[in-house]
Amino acid sequence: MHKTKATLRVALAVFLGAATLTATAGAQPAPVPPARHPAGASSAGERDWWKNAVIYEIYPRSFQDSNGDGIGDLNGITARLDYLKKLGIDAIWLTPCYPSPQVDFGYDISDYKNIDPKYGTLADFDRLVAEAGKRHIRILMDMVMNHSSDQHPWFLQSRSSRANPYRDWYMWRDGKGETATDKGAPPNNWESLFGHSAWQWDAATRQYYYHRFYIQQPDLNWNNPKVHDAFKEIISSWLKRGVAGFRFDAVTALYEDPSLADEEILKDKDGKPLINAYGDPVLNDSKTDNLPGVHAVMQEMRAHADSFSSAAFPGTRVLIGETYLPNVAELAKMYGPPNKPEFHLPMDTQVAFINKLNVAALRAKLNDVETKIGDNTPLLLFDNHDNPRVQARYGDGVHDTDIQRALAAVLFLSRGSAQFYYGDEIGMMTTPPTRKEDVKDPIGITGWPNEKGRDGERTPMQWDASANAGFSKAKPWLPVPPSASAINVAAESRDPDSLLAWYENVIRLKKTIPAFERGRNTMLDTKNDKVLSWMRKDPGSPPVVVAVNFTADPQTVRLSVPGFNGKLKTLLKTPGAADPSTLEQIQLGPFGVYVGKILQR
Ligand code: GLC
Repeated sequence: MHKTKATLRVALAVFLGAATLTATAGAQPAPVPPARHPAGASSAGERDWWKNAVIYEIYPRSFQDSNGDGIGDLNGITARLDYLKKLGIDAIWLTPCYPSPQVDFGYDISDYKNIDPKYGTLADFDRLVAEAGKRHIRILMDMVMNHSSDQHPWFLQSRSSRANPYRDWYMWRDGKGETATDKGAPPNNWESLFGHSAWQWDAATRQYYYHRFYIQQPDLNWNNPKVHDAFKEIISSWLKRGVAGFRFDAVTALYEDPSLADEEILKDKDGKPLINAYGDPVLNDSKTDNLPGVHAVMQEMRAHADSFSSAAFPGTRVLIGETYLPNVAELAKMYGPPNKPEFHLPMDTQVAFINKLNVAALRAKLNDVETKIGDNTPLLLFDNHDNPRVQARYGDGVHDTDIQRALAAVLFLSRGSAQFYYGDEIGMMTTPPTRKEDVKDPIGITGWPNEKGRDGERTPMQWDASANAGFSKAKPWLPVPPSASAINVAAESRDPDSLLAWYENVIRLKKTIPAFERGRNTMLDTKNDKVLSWMRKDPGSPPVVVAVNFTADPQTVRLSVPGFNGKLKTLLKTPGAADPSTLEQIQLGPFGVYVGKILQR
């Protein structure tokens, strides 16, 4: 697997994928049910809410600052819930807001049952859950089980002596060729996804510990049953607060090959070792990623989360996976066998990171997830906080807004649940730092200038054209991009042809047209390599078609759906496009989109 620069972030993300030892975060409130569907929703609606869900990822640091310190916070999110309700989302996935030294901006957790004071308090969190619930929006937390912070009390204990009861909570190993005066070499050639050796020497106890990510993120030992119990307790504590589920971070990295054998060094076609952005050899990951133990852990966590669903405490608690996997067969396994389910929604990164506007490739990947995961529900996405934004990966610099409309049509009008990243709906752009001294994400420092880190896609949400884009009264922790003067919520809310209006419209179709809510996807016109067309059909309601031109030239498509006449009723189309009268004559402008209902014969 050649990790080119373009795929490096994905690779990074590939794996990127008790407050105290006795651990409590204050008095536990009585269990709070998660947000409910709109009044009158059936219990099946409560149970199945995640099958056609719209999930919005918030990076709390960058969404809305409410207390004037330049860093976003929970009260800021609460203040923006009406905006999110209007957008039409069902759930917020909050990236970590637990206490953390913030080396990896929250993915290095030092207390799993509390809220970092930078983001607020547990009371603020409870208020966010309650206010979101009033708007029928659920809160999903990030669950980081692969590693903790090196400042977590578990690790402080673990590193304090080889005899400490917490020693075996982490992965400690002897080096090779160690002597009384020399630490020897690391146990093997494994690398951190964030650069250099994955083994860190600890002089006090004279062993190495393993870290898949930063040195400050030691890997937990999932062969230790106490680690399982600790996480089940953490999960319970958040579910009792009314959380509707979790996104499991870096979950494919939970286990390593116990033989500790070296990973293979990958070579180019001339037999020379490939070198990554950090100057290290590129390794295979067969010994450090997607080992079978992950499935048993997820079966255990799923059974645990399912046990929270009861008449008194209704609604499915949903488990989402950060599952960068090589193919759809591996993705299918993440749903688990029917009698031992695992994730409800493992992320389909195959579709997300195609990273080129290639109709045949996109069709093949969408078809895979429609036909090769059994009766399970796909979770589609195109973006997250670890990768350059949609505009940077798919834009052509001329038709960026149209391209983003086209991708949003694929995202929301295909079958399954859809996830997107704050700011996608207005077309926020990746704006990487231009000087090494400005970089905040440590991988951007290690990898400069080849890898500038992830700051560029984590800039403050652009609410309006005022100073700091309405994000904060203080200097924001990352600079507001110059594009904020034109690309912002206030401006786009006034424009019916804006990208924001398009997002609201496609989400509304997803949630209100029966064929979009639950109809199967069938690809149409499958030899066409310029236009992606598909039909959604649900028994008992008219089928709908979507046609998306993925080229900069106008295209005409002729579709046919056996058993239906060609007459169409337009549901949505690119601003300015004409209404086609029949299926045989759908005209699309550059990157144009047409969505129509097929009339019965
Ligand atoms: C996940 C997160 C990423 C983080 C990494 C280590 O991939 O998405 O942001 O750096 O895990 O926790």
